[in-house]
Amino acid sequence: MEYSTKTEALERLSTDCLVLGVFQKRKLAPSTEILDTMFDGLLAKLLKRDDVEGKAGDTLLINHVPGGRIERVLLVGLGKKDELDVAAYRKSLDAAFKALKGCGAKHAVSVLHEVEVGGSCAAWKVRQAVELTEAALYRFQEMKGDTSENHSPRLSRLQFLAASESEVPLVEAGIREGEAIARGVTLARNLGNLPGNVCTPAYLAEQALKIGKEHKKLKVSVLEESDMDELGMGSLLSVARGSRQPAKLIVMEYRGGGGKAKPHVLVGKGLTFDAGGISLKPAANMDEMKYDMCGGASVIGAIQAVAELGLPLNVVGLVPASENLPDGNANKPGDIVKSMAGITIEILNTDAEGRLILCDTLTYAKRFDPAAVIDVATLTGACIVALGRHPSGLMGNDDALCEQLVRAGDTAWDRVWRMPIWDDYQEQLKSNFADLGNIGGPDGGSITAACFLSRFAKDFHWAHLDIAGTAWKTGADKGATGRPVALLVQYLIDRAV
Ligand code: BES
Ligand code: MN
Ligand code: ZN
Repeated sequence: MEYSTKTEALERLSTDCLVLGVFQKRKLAPSTEILDTMFDGLLAKLLKRDDVEGKAGDTLLINHVPGGRIERVLLVGLGKKDELDVAAYRKSLDAAFKALKGCGAKHAVSVLHEVEVGGSCAAWKVRQAVELTEAALYRFQEMKGDTSENHSPRLSRLQFLAASESEVPLVEAGIREGEAIARGVTLARNLGNLPGNVCTPAYLAEQALKIGKEHKKLKVSVLEESDMDELGMGSLLSVARGSRQPAKLIVMEYRGGGGKAKPHVLVGKGLTFDAGGISLKPAANMDEMKYDMCGGASVIGAIQAVAELGLPLNVVGLVPASENLPDGNANKPGDIVKSMAGITIEILNTDAEGRLILCDTLTYAKRFDPAAVIDVATLTGACIVALGRHPSGLMGNDDALCEQLVRAGDTAWDRVWRMPIWDDYQEQLKSNFADLGNIGGPDGGSITAACFLSRFAKDFHWAHLDIAGTAWKTGADKGATGRPVALLVQYLIDRAV
């Protein structure tokens, strides 16, 4: 899809489809009012005839309007004018672009960003539109042999009408950010949706290396098991021992900031398939454990977006990638391994493997002298029990960093909810035989997982995002969401100003 801005009086505009807003009780948005007058009250009349109220998510396609320049009008309900918040705006956009996709138009012009949404600027409103359009167009068909269903929608050009010349740069910035974020999200979704037999640790590493070649300021390298062995990453390597696929530690270094600027380090769990290991998971829905690399995919997607946007920051992405399978050589309950930090870990449950690969990566992160470290992981089923599937879980050792992430999540509409990691919980990780057990019992499972990680994050500002409930959708519309790419990129955009 090609996005651009346009400045043109509505009276002279020509397009296959003009997308216009209507508030509840059929109150017309400003441009809709102008068009309605141009068409002698036709729009208001048709809204009434078809009993379309203007609720958020309502749409009415008018397939023919007088004048000849505008082929169609898509009226989009925005809900009550004084209640138009981010959620309602996004719901309206989502309905709009789904309807637009199916209406047969090749070219459309939208003015929906003209409405007031909690004081947000045109750039933000346009960016949301681009992100939601790309989401509406997303399909994952790479693995389908029967391509008869693969016809792509005709819509190929979407333009945003700028209210004035002075709004053009804002609209353009919104398009640029929206496209970069959407491409990062799409990349994360594709990597997530690929099956475990295709998306292996080596495949993830190859994809990251490919992205590295596309951007001058991005350097990507991959640590092999021998390198990790030399570094003493006994915890990470213990997980990989149960698999025939060699583990990889992907290192993506983006240098957009000054030489001395401390980097923001993103760490993403890249477990390309989690069968649980010897503590084998039950069979039901085990296929969904191909999504256990979504944290890693979101880090790769965010780094790609940052490189595309050319943000004036230094950012490092670290993705430990491995499988977790049962094998004669796999970790066994009771095994004790030594992490790179020197802390010994008793593996009481081999299915708590995410923290085992993350802890060594956190230790490795220290060498970058980070401004902050944010890890992203499908870490615990307990997070879904605690928070459901709407927010990602947030925990961390630094209030300011956590607040920045909450704010970025609200702006990007990729929200998080913070949980405590008080010292009181640390006791649950005590082991009789090693420095640390890898599980903390049934209570507060997401928190004790984060407490485990916190032991390896003492030397820097650190936050942890548990995306177990948000990285993919389960059920009939099973599929990766690309979360939290938008949150991570927003956090970094905020740091760049
Ligand atoms: N990848 C899983 C967490 C997970 C499970 C995410 C289901 C989304 C849906 C993780 O490796 C895991 O297995 N965690 C265990 C931890 C437990 C053994 C302490 C879990 O959540 O059951
Ligand atoms: Mn597991
Ligand atoms: Zn896992």
